[in-house]
Amino acid sequence: MKFLEKKRILIIISGGIAAYKSLDLIRSLTKLQCEVKTILTKGGAEFVTPLSISSLSKNKVYSDIYSAENESEMDHISLSRWADLILIAPATSNIIAKMSQGISDDLATTVVQASNKNIFVCPAMNVRMWEHASNRQNLEKIKSYNYRVIGPFSGEMACGEYGDGRLADIEYILKELDNFFKFKSSNKKLRAIVTAGPTQEYIDPVRYISNRSSGKQGYEIAKSLFNNGFDTTLISGPSRLASNPNINLLRVNTAEEMYKKTVENLPCDVAIFCAAVGDFKVKNLSKDKIKKNNVLKLNFEKNIDILELISKNNNKPKLVIGFSAETSNLHSNSKKKLQNKGCDWIIANDVSKNDIGFDSDFNEVAIFYKNENISDEIISKNYKSVVADEIVKRVINQLNLI
Ligand code: C5P
Repeated sequence: MKFLEKKRILIIISGGIAAYKSLDLIRSLTKLQCEVKTILTKGGAEFVTPLSISSLSKNKVYSDIYSAENESEMDHISLSRWADLILIAPATSNIIAKMSQGISDDLATTVVQASNKNIFVCPAMNVRMWEHASNRQNLEKIKSYNYRVIGPFSGEMACGEYGDGRLADIEYILKELDNFFKFKSSNKKLRAIVTAGPTQEYIDPVRYISNRSSGKQGYEIAKSLFNNGFDTTLISGPSRLASNPNINLLRVNTAEEMYKKTVENLPCDVAIFCAAVGDFKVKNLSKDKIKKNNVLKLNFEKNIDILELISKNNNKPKLVIGFSAETSNLHSNSKKKLQNKGCDWIIANDVSKNDIGFDSDFNEVAIFYKNENISDEIISKNYKSVVADEIVKRVINQLNLI
């Protein structure tokens, strides 16, 4: 845990039964010589007392936004500026809902809203609350603000029910924080390129052929790489999605343009080719708008294969990852692709399955590795943002080994 040592951690304790575990969390952090300050919400104070918290953190416990004593200190600003990181543990569905809407009606939510620091959220709640559609949407919302979510774990709950919703184990939370500081220090100079979205292949100056790709998975991967400290370039075909302003977003239309922008942005450490590039382009593209006729006959030729060309480029990134959309024979097709294109990983999804892949918020993927020593693995159905985080976790592990 050497990267977490001596950091300044601001813990927000909200009102769930798991609040008692935050005492253990504080104890473990102080053992790592972290300085810990805490904000206790009104609900949190029903479960743990300020006295037990301050005895462990050796610091004052903050709770009141309207305190004359603290007003001059501007707690809602200074606490966040002081911290290296803000950890909300446990985070109830209520505080998650408030954060998702920008409601700042107490010190905890005001600090979060006014923060310029990375925010980690450790949800803990009853399984039904966790699975409720409103909670899932609120989580997606806070993730889009670049808050990171740790857990929850699955298991028996204080209320006697069983399922997802337990606060992640303290050791696991500490490991995630340690990893964050590790990547933050080591990935600063690591560069990533991600391609996303469809391409448009022109027929004439006003018409094109394209495909149904939304770009969601690629945008989520770019976001996750950026959140992990990568200097990230996102080369996107036409898409309505918004991207973080700190990600270098380059918009293109055709496969040729996408290839050119990719080459221009080499070298990089990892390139992830998520785009659904048109496999064919129109031969003898018409310079003028084609006149209306009874029939239109078009000739197509094979488009350039960006993934293959970059995998075989002298400036090949350390790690080249391709995507593959399949409707059958996922395993054999992906293995073939690894060989033919020369990339390091193929991440395959079965687009014939309902509710995943194209334009969906969900995805389920299988990762196939060139290195035969690593076994293929499945990231089971989840939000594309979660799938992206899982992929990026593996990218970071791999880059640390190269
Ligand atoms: O061969 P297939 O199209 O299934 O391969 C998919 C992978 O190759 C994706 O990573 C996609 O971005 C990339 N690709 C490409 N250039 C093409 C076609 C696909 O880079 N012309």
